[in-house]
Amino acid sequence: PLSAERDDDGELRIAGVGVGELVRDHGTPLQVIDETEVRRRAAALRSAFDRAAAEHGTTARIYYAGKALLNTSIVRWVLEEGLNVDVCTGGELEVALAGGADAGRLGFHGNNKSVAELERAVDAGVGTIIIDSVIEIERLAAIVSRTGASQRVMLRVNSGVHAETHDFLATAHEDQKFGFPLGQAPAAVARIREVDGLVFAGLHCHIGSQIFGVAGFRESASRLLDLHQELLAGGDIPQLNLGGGFGIAYTRVDDPTPIADLAEGIVAAVAEGCAARGIPVPALSFEPGRAIVGNAGVTLYEIGTTKDVALETTTRRYVSVDGGMSDNARPALYGAQYSARLASRIGTGAPMLVRVVGKHCESGDIVVDHEYLPGDAGPGDLIAVAATGAYCAPLSSNYNHVPRPPIVAVADGRSRVIVRGESIADLLARDAGIPQ
Ligand code: LLP
Repeated sequence: PLSAERDDDGELRIAGVGVGELVRDHGTPLQVIDETEVRRRAAALRSAFDRAAAEHGTTARIYYAGKALLNTSIVRWVLEEGLNVDVCTGGELEVALAGGADAGRLGFHGNNKSVAELERAVDAGVGTIIIDSVIEIERLAAIVSRTGASQRVMLRVNSGVHAETHDFLATAHEDQKFGFPLGQAPAAVARIREVDGLVFAGLHCHIGSQIFGVAGFRESASRLLDLHQELLAGGDIPQLNLGGGFGIAYTRVDDPTPIADLAEGIVAAVAEGCAARGIPVPALSFEPGRAIVGNAGVTLYEIGTTKDVALETTTRRYVSVDGGMSDNARPALYGAQYSARLASRIGTGAPMLVRVVGKHCESGDIVVDHEYLPGDAGPGDLIAVAATGAYCAPLSSNYNHVPRPPIVAVADGRSRVIVRGESIADLLARDAGIPQ
């Protein structure tokens, strides 16, 4: 899907820009984002859900989950493609606002929003605050009574459905920090409805991330609709938000459900559930993050050293690159799998089993656990790691005082920096003990 091809010399081009030129202009490691691909995926999600919703007599809104990758450029792109934005901290809220988002198009999440964050959100006019605790209801009640504001809210519930990548589990008691257990939701909604200035818009549920298939969403929707129906006795409920979590392909073995099938499968399940209960179909919203930016990102690294380690039946080559867990923590955190290609040229050596590793002082500092690269790939060669657009930059760190790479957008054969890289001066800037 990413528009990457090779030119006559075998050099990889990303959205029409050669990796050699990218690295000459911006250095390595380098996080590259294909702007056209982000826009295309945002638009595809929007139109697929619009179409499915229209077919089933409702509407669907897409909120881009900014936690996947957030900067003012991305905010602008998704807004221009007609999406709204979901933020989950005061910091994300400020980036979305700085990116020009109309506050009314924002949803604000989080299990521990501070009073200051809530005041800022209400004051800015955030469209929907998704409430996650009883304490938060009271914090908001105090704010709206003091300011006289009217605030639209949803209630996040824990449907008990926990989706894994290729499967989902439904347990009666989900033991995790997010949302209200289903049984506690009616009292919470009753309290919200009591507060002048809080407008209850509906229920929210997010069942997990990197989910394949529609089964988990259908099960969750069905549980949510039971509650939604019960709550209709106390007043109108215009909306239902089913969260994000749509899975993407990281490696060749992943086979994600096409967006159109997801949209139709999920929306149809809600519509059928409403018909069976004799209730109107609420307006729907969704919060995909990874599915919009994940496959639009590539990270370029330069190989520094290699080392061969004899295994029982084969040899594994460790290929060390100039980044690692500071720019992509996902392999270390989740055992996430990626794939890599020699990017600067076509290799000539026979394919070798390699593990691409970073430069950090930690043996879990793996970039790509298991890959085959041409046997002649070595120092000075560039490698490209695909599908790094989601949850890489946001989870990045300065571990071992490695500066964070720039983020560069490519479009129409040109590149431009959208987040500048860190310098050594940046790394020292917060050290208050440097002798003057
Ligand atoms: N909505 C809510 C309330 C969420 O908590 C999340 C993700 C999303 C939407 C977006 O989910 P997505 O469509 O991107 O799967 N750091 C992990 C992923 C954490 C996801 C947290 N919540 C990773 O790198 O895989």
